[in-house]
Amino acid sequence: MASLLLLLFLAAITVTSQSYGSEFSIPRQIHLLRPQSGAAGSHVPGVTCLSWRLGVETNNIIGWKTVPAECEGYVGHYMLGQQYRADSKAITDEAFLYAQSLKPDGDGKDIWVFDIDETALSNLPYYAEHGFGADPYNATLFNKWVLEGKAPALPESLNLYRKLQSLGIKIVFITGRTEDQRTVTTNNLKKAGYRSWLKLVLKASSYSGKTAAFYKSSERAKLVSSGYRIVGNIGDQWSDLLGTNTGNRTFKLPDPMYYIS
Ligand SMILES: *[C@@H]1O[C@H](CO)[C@@H](O)[C@H](O)[C@H]1NC(C)=O
Ligand SMILES: *[C@@H]1O[C@H](CO)[C@@H](O)[C@H](O)[C@H]1NC(C)=O
Ligand SMILES: [Mg+2]
Repeated sequence: MASLLLLLFLAAITVTSQSYGSEFSIPRQIHLLRPQSGAAGSHVPGVTCLSWRLGVETNNIIGWKTVPAECEGYVGHYMLGQQYRADSKAITDEAFLYAQSLKPDGDGKDIWVFDIDETALSNLPYYAEHGFGADPYNATLFNKWVLEGKAPALPESLNLYRKLQSLGIKIVFITGRTEDQRTVTTNNLKKAGYRSWLKLVLKASSYSGKTAAFYKSSERAKLVSSGYRIVGNIGDQWSDLLGTNTGNRTFKLPDPMYYIS
């Protein structure tokens, strides 16, 4: 464990010494709210928080409702520190390398699917304020935050979006947000730097009873039957990336804050 912590420490120094754009200014209230509680070595019975996070990211730990109480501090520090950003960058860099290897058909039918929450846009300011454990998700408060329309971009995703567009790949957003949030979502995306896209697919407000994985698969199927080729797909939940018509390659961004099936 000591050597693992040393490794993390060294990784943190390396990452900190790189310069990140200043456009992503997320308040670090978690550090004030819960100072230094919960290191990677904290124990959920028998499992460290780092192991728990790895299990979550690899889709081995599924169906969880909240971050284990012991890991709330750890998840808060991960999300608001540099490691989350570094991990996101490793993923979007890899996505771009793959995209560059594609031979675009030039018919405008190559598309890349982006999820919105915790992918294109970040709700970290909401979680920083409300906490990362013990069910911070309160539908009333979260909707109020969404309706403010001021979620920042996850900068690594915005960067990937721009680079994909420069390759001639078109962007389709598929989100679990509902149709009644179309205007606020459109305005928020634009304000965050996403200026154009082929489609923004939101869930019908009356939609219920199906998983996100089912809903997103159905929406991707419609795109494919319209002749589009889903060359890539990026999201923070496995339910963005599993199912049918997933795309030629999928890219999983980190999200140890919540689980959507
Ligand atoms: C959600 O937040 C509102 C406003 O603070 C509060 O009145 C309500 O009880 C909360 N709901 C739950 C389920 O905690
Ligand atoms: C992408 O997937 C489709 C459907 O499986 C396949 O026909 C096509 O060859 C793949 N394209 C690339 C570039 O791998
Ligand atoms: Mg998401």
